[in-house]
Parts: sequence; C-alpha cells; structure tokens
Amino acid sequence: MYRLGESVIFTLYGESHAQYIGGFLEGLPEGEEVNVGQIDEELALRKPYKGIGTPRTEPDEVEFLSGLEDGRTTGEKIHFRIRNTNTDSSKYEAFNRTPRPGHADLPAIAKFPGHIIKGGNQFSGRLTASAVVAGSIARQFVSRYGISVGSFTRSIGRVRDDGDRGFDDAVASRSNPTRASTKELDSMMTKEILDASADDDSVGGIIECITVGLPMGFGGTWFESLDARIANAVFGIPACKGIEFGKGFGLAEMRGSESNDPFCFDGGIRLRSNNMGGILGGMSDGAPMVFRAAFKPTPSIGKEQDTVDLEKMENTKIRIEGRHDPCIVPRAAIVVESMTCLVIADQIRGDILWNSKN
Ligand SMILES: Cc1cc2nc3c(=O)[nH]c(=O)nc-3n(C[C@H](O)[C@H](O)[C@H](O)COP(=O)(O)O)c2cc1C
Repeated sequence: MYRLGESVIFTLYGESHAQYIGGFLEGLPEGEEVNVGQIDEELALRKPYKGIGTPRTEPDEVEFLSGLEDGRTTGEKIHFRIRNTNTDSSKYEAFNRTPRPGHADLPAIAKFPGHIIKGGNQFSGRLTASAVVAGSIARQFVSRYGISVGSFTRSIGRVRDDGDRGFDDAVASRSNPTRASTKELDSMMTKEILDASADDDSVGGIIECITVGLPMGFGGTWFESLDARIANAVFGIPACKGIEFGKGFGLAEMRGSESNDPFCFDGGIRLRSNNMGGILGGMSDGAPMVFRAAFKPTPSIGKEQDTVDLEKMENTKIRIEGRHDPCIVPRAAIVVESMTCLVIADQIRGDILWNSKN
C-alpha cells in the first residue's frame, strides 16, 4: 500500500493483473456530498482514446465498500475498489528473463524476492484509476472552497503549444482526445502519436496544470510547502520525470528584475506577471498556481531493443508485443489534476492557522 497526505490520507493498493485495484481515502469531514457521476466522468478521461491509446479498455466500475452513504461521506474511511477485467499475463512471462528497458522489471526483480512480472504489477499505469477516484472526491471537497483544478497538454513529442493559456483552455481540452487546448493542436498531436506508433515506437510530452481560487497565504513552509507537496505527489505518477512551477528552469537564465512578479493594487493586491507559478515561500501568492509535468515516452515499445538474458547472463534483443499506449500523456492529465486535488484537500484539512482565519 502506498500513502499520500497527513490529514486527508489517500492509500493506494493493487496490481495491474490482480483481481482488484483500489484505495482508501480518510480524513474528510462527515456529510460531504459526493457525486458518483462526476467520478465516472473523470475516470472516462483516463481511459485510452480509441485510435491513439492502448486497446486495453476496461469498464472501470467503482465499488464503494465503506465511507459513503446516500451520496455523502459518513466520516469513516472511504474504501473503494475497481475490478481488473483484462488480465492476460502470458505476453509478460518473457520479461522475467529479459526485462523491458525503461520499465520497472529489472529493479523490481532485484528488490523483491520471487517477483513475477504480470503486466506492470504495482508499477502499472492501471493503478492511476484509483488515484482518479480519490482525486475526484477531493476535487468535489476543494471546490466548496472556491478552488478549481484543470490541465491540458502543452506538448507531445516535438509538437508544442506555445500559446498563452489559462484555466478556460484547460477546461476546453477535456473535449480533445489528446487533451490539447485547441482542435488544431489536437490533430497535430494525434499525428505525432500515430507516427510514433506506426514506427513501433512511443512519445512523451508535457502536461500543464492550472489551479485557480487558492487564497493568498494558503500552503505551508519547507517540506510542507505547496510546491514540495505537489512535486512529491505528481512524481509518484508512473513515467513522470520532471516538474516545474511557473517559468521553472527558465528562471535560472533570468535576472531578478525580469523574474520577480511585481505587485500592484487595483481594488486588491495583484501580481503583474506569474513567473513563479503562483507560489512564494511555499504559499499561494493569490495568482493561479501553474506547474508543468514532463512524462517520458511509454517504455513498452514494439521496436527491437537491447536487454540482458538473466538466465544465461548474456546480451540479447527484445521486441515487446501486447497492449501499450504509444503515448501516456493524454491519459495522465486527469491523474495530475487528481493528485493536485488530493494535496490541496490535505492542506485545507491540515492547515490549522489558515482554517482558524477562514
Ligand atoms: C496512465 C498511464 C498509463 C501507462 N501505460 C503504460 C503502458 O501501456 N505500457 C508501459 O510500458 N508503461 C505504461 N505506463 C508507464 C509505466 O507504468 C512506467 O513507466 C513504469 O512503471 C516505470 O516507472 P517510471 O517510468 O516512473 O520509472 C503508464 C503510465 C501511466 C501514468
């Protein structure tokens, strides 16, 4: 089991080819309304999109075992699970002897005695369905504080969205299969994915996440800072290899006079720019919180790759068959949003000082 949070605690369990995946969510107050239809809508955004995603599709029916009654939280631990219906492990047997480059096989064999590779085991993207269920419940909770979280695809492979984007673009991206902000970019990104797939290859990309409604001062300090907590949660998503807030790595090339976001007063205190991505000292500065998460290309590819035969201890080649996404990015967007909602819910419940003032 894998745990996130201190006041609102999300625990994740399961394996890609086990009977179930599932999770626990504890720490939310009693009587909170939970719309199960909204959970299903968000789960649908994680499903592979026909043509550009893996042919592995599962109904993702969520079963709530405790913590919810008549659409409201009881104050008890919420326990939910989703049955895995597509669990043919035969194509994965060979990876016990010839581990897949870029996947977790080799370190997992080294770490866990008797580890047998079945799908992606506990490392599988399949487990992110549970993160979306918990994240959707957290989203409904944080929305009562006027906080909304959205995301869109900033890039896939070499196709980049260089537009000046905001929260509305993130909302609009929900109707595009690649989660691009416009239809035109959606077609270009789709082509990038299909081209890689036709080459038995895969592509990565960048998801931009935008949160609006965070009040100034919301967050924490040092290891409890908003950015530290979000980085921890988002890096937990399989295949995430980078995160930057605001201009991020670009700030390193600027002077302070360019990078600082100047304050101004027009009825309230505002920032003239948002290079810091809405965070100062680990707390919200009142501007939208903006971060980007980079996802690597899907490791399982059809192209021939070098690996090692662990029985003979000699070099060999591997070609991976089976059901794999040529690009993880479109499906990971809702997962990034979900992790963000969970962190914000945790900070709302945990921030006694902020709560005493609000
Ligand atoms: C939504 C989602 C779907 C994924 N689908 C696949 C897949 O079909 N094939 C694959 O090899 N990896 C897939 N991954 C990525 C692997 O789970 C991940 O690369 C692997 O566990 C190694 O972890 P790391 O990349 O974080 O080091 C997926 C990840 C996510 C978030």
